[in-house]
Order: sequence, then C-alpha cells, then structure tokens
Amino acid sequence: MAERETWTTRLGFILAAVGSAVGLGNIWRFPFLAADSGGGAFLVVYLIAILIVGIPALLAEFVIGRRANVDAIGAFREIGKGNWRFIGAVGVLASFWTLSYYSVIGGWVFRYVFGSATGSALAEPEAYFGAVSVGSSSVLTHIVFMAITIGVVAFGIERGIELATKFMVPSIVVLLLGLAAYAFTLPNAAPGYEFLFNPDFGTISSNLAQIIPAATGQALFSLSVGFSVMITYASYLGEDDSLGADGLTIAVTNTFIGILAGMVVLPLLFAGGLSVGAAGGGGPGAVFVAIPIALGDFPSLIGQIIGIVFFFVVLIAALSSAISLLEAPVAYVVDEFGVPRMQATAGIGGSAFVLGIPSAWDTAWLTWFDGLGVALLLPITVLFVVIFVGWILGDDAIDEIKKGMGGDSFGTVWLWSLRTFVLLAVVVVFLLNIHDLFFTVDEGTYIIPPPLQ
Ligand code: PFF
Repeated sequence: MAERETWTTRLGFILAAVGSAVGLGNIWRFPFLAADSGGGAFLVVYLIAILIVGIPALLAEFVIGRRANVDAIGAFREIGKGNWRFIGAVGVLASFWTLSYYSVIGGWVFRYVFGSATGSALAEPEAYFGAVSVGSSSVLTHIVFMAITIGVVAFGIERGIELATKFMVPSIVVLLLGLAAYAFTLPNAAPGYEFLFNPDFGTISSNLAQIIPAATGQALFSLSVGFSVMITYASYLGEDDSLGADGLTIAVTNTFIGILAGMVVLPLLFAGGLSVGAAGGGGPGAVFVAIPIALGDFPSLIGQIIGIVFFFVVLIAALSSAISLLEAPVAYVVDEFGVPRMQATAGIGGSAFVLGIPSAWDTAWLTWFDGLGVALLLPITVLFVVIFVGWILGDDAIDEIKKGMGGDSFGTVWLWSLRTFVLLAVVVVFLLNIHDLFFTVDEGTYIIPPPLQ
C-alpha cells in the first residue's frame, strides 16, 4: 500500500483544522442560538465552554489521532485499546450524519451567492428562501455542494485538503474583516455590538439549564469536536510539534472569526431595522431571511455587493468544514479496507448525499438531523473521548501531549481537567440533552422523525 500522507507543514495542519472549525456553526447556527438565549449572555457561556470544555476535549482528540497515525476507528486498536473502537465509530457516524444536512445548507448558500448577484434573493427574501430551501431546487444545490466537497477530498491531504484550506481560511479572514469594517460604518451598528457584547446576566441565571447545554454543544460543534474529525486530522501529523500550542491557536482563531462574523451579522440586522428576533425566530432560515431583508433596504448595488461577498464567505467556510466531515469516514474506509481514495470519496459522499435528501426536501427534517446529531451523537462521542483519554490512556496521554512542549505541568493539569470538571460538564450536558430529547413533551418530539411533506 502507498505510504500514508501527512500534512506538509505545521501551518497546513492548523489551517485545515481552522477551516474545519470555522463554518456554518459560526455564522448560521450561532446567531439564532444566541438570539434564542439572550445574546451576549449566550456569548459569555459559550466562551467559558470553549475554554474549559472545548479546548481540553480538542486536545484529547489530537492526542488519540497523532498517537495512532491511522483513521479514527482503527486508532483505538493501534493504541492497543481495541475495545474502545466504538468511540471512533460513533464519531465517524456523527460526521457522516452531519455532512448529509450540512451539504444541504451549503447548497442554499451557493444559491444565495447568485441570488444576491441578480438581486432576486434580496427582493422578496421570505419567498426566495421558501422557494430555494425545499423540494427539487434544494436537492439540486445539495448535489452541487456535495460534488465540490467530494472533488477536494478526492485529491487527498496534501493536494486536496491542505491546498484548498491554505487559500480558503485566509480569504475568510480578509473578506470578513472587510465586511466588519463596512458594518462599522452603518448608522445603527451600535445596538448590534451592544446585543453581542453586553451580556444580560439575569438571562443567564434564569435560563441556566437551557443555556449551558446549548452553549457547550455549540462550543464543541464549533471546534469540530465529537465527530472523529479532529482525531483524523491529527492522524496526519508527522512531526511532534506542540499540540497544546496548535490547539490553542485553532480555538482562538475560531473564536475570533466567530465574533467577527457576529460583528458583521448583528450590525447588518440592526441597520436593516430588524430586531434580533428575526435571526432567532426563523430556525434554520434565520440568516437566509434576516440578512437579505436587511440588505434589501440598502441602495441596491451596495446590497447586492455585500450580499455576494457575505454569502461567498459563508460558502467557503461551509466547504472547508464539509471536507473535514467527509474526510473522517473516507479515512476509515481507505485505512481499514484499502479502498482507493477516489472510490471511497465518491461512494461515501454519494451516500451522504442520499441521506441528505429528506433534509433538502423539507426543513423539518434538517432540524431533526441537526438536533439529534448535536444533542445525542456528539455528546456520546465527547463523553467517551474524555473518559478514554483521561482515565484509560492516562500517563500515555501526558507523554503524547508533552512532545514538542517540554515540562510535565501542562500535561498534568490538562489530564486532571479532563478527569474532573471536563468530564463532569460533559456528563451534565449529556443528561440535560437526554432529558430534553426524551422527557420534555414539546421539545422532546425531536426523537421522532417528522413526517415528510
Ligand atoms: N465546526 C463546524 C462549524 O462550526 O460549522 C461544523 C463541523 C465541522 C462540525 C466538522 C464537526 C465537524 F467534524
């Protein structure tokens, strides 16, 4: 068999991981979660969750991946703990599951770049979203997005993912900075910033049981933890650079880009005279309806240009995440069964496309897929990753994280954080999610798939 590929540079790995982290989660999922849960209040809990749960868990996935240098399921066998392979399997399932509907939304974004250019997306936003987000039109753009994703992953690590993300991530930053600078000049930008940065602590304390799991789930989703993706990406690391430094760089960049996206989205909404409720009430349609409504109020050429740039940024952010979601199952099939990468990519991408058809057809299904993936599959994987690295790998994990770093203290503090409060936090989130899924009557309907319209 050909030798397994590795990232050509350390920066290549960091950019690919940032590309995975920065995606629809930052721009599509975050605003409507935040709007539902008190804006700035949600941001505060989210940032705390990134710091005390997200980063330690991200490093745990890195440790597994780099130690094994093989796909996320085989990794457990390679480390000598084959009985724990189910963790990698649930993660790979989660990435495949998520890819199916992520590509549907990616397809809408693709459509919106053109809809902004022609102005049709901005003329009657609700009708436009209603037309492109369901039925055959949505299936068609889902195919296009999935095909592009397959096209990148088929070229492998160096010539596919690393090369693509080397262009994508810097473009996201530059274009978002430009949009944020423009948003700053808008007359009503201030209330947008205020909503984002001025937490209402009353909201936090009265909705703790709802905000904590939502913010922690979002923190993990946003860092791409719990999907076997970061295990897979770290498995292509050759040299032993500091995982701690890399993880921190990735998390900080992801958070920075997320906040930057908020500094574009919220001023636009407020400048367009919309309340934040417009971003919250719409569920998956939030940014697709609210942003075009706001842009429709601008002089038409400006509205179109901002629309094109905005949706183009979202498109590359979504693509660089989708390729990581596809890579996790592809690596499994390639490494474990020796299937050529081209075939593996086409087969798995094609199957994820089929699984995504109900979500493309009817947004109720998309919400169901998103709910079940993030509330169930993700916490199961993270829970067991944390137990595994904290309590089963133990000192071996410290050995791995120590490489390229020197000194024991960081590793020891990290390991004990995993063993104690990270584990506790993940258990609490897991239980609250289970409670919501199975026992809350109005929201508990999640567990039952919606009828197909
Ligand atoms: N982190 C991505 C986002 O915030 O949009 C979504 C994602 C990508 C989740 C890859 C999980 C993953 F493995």
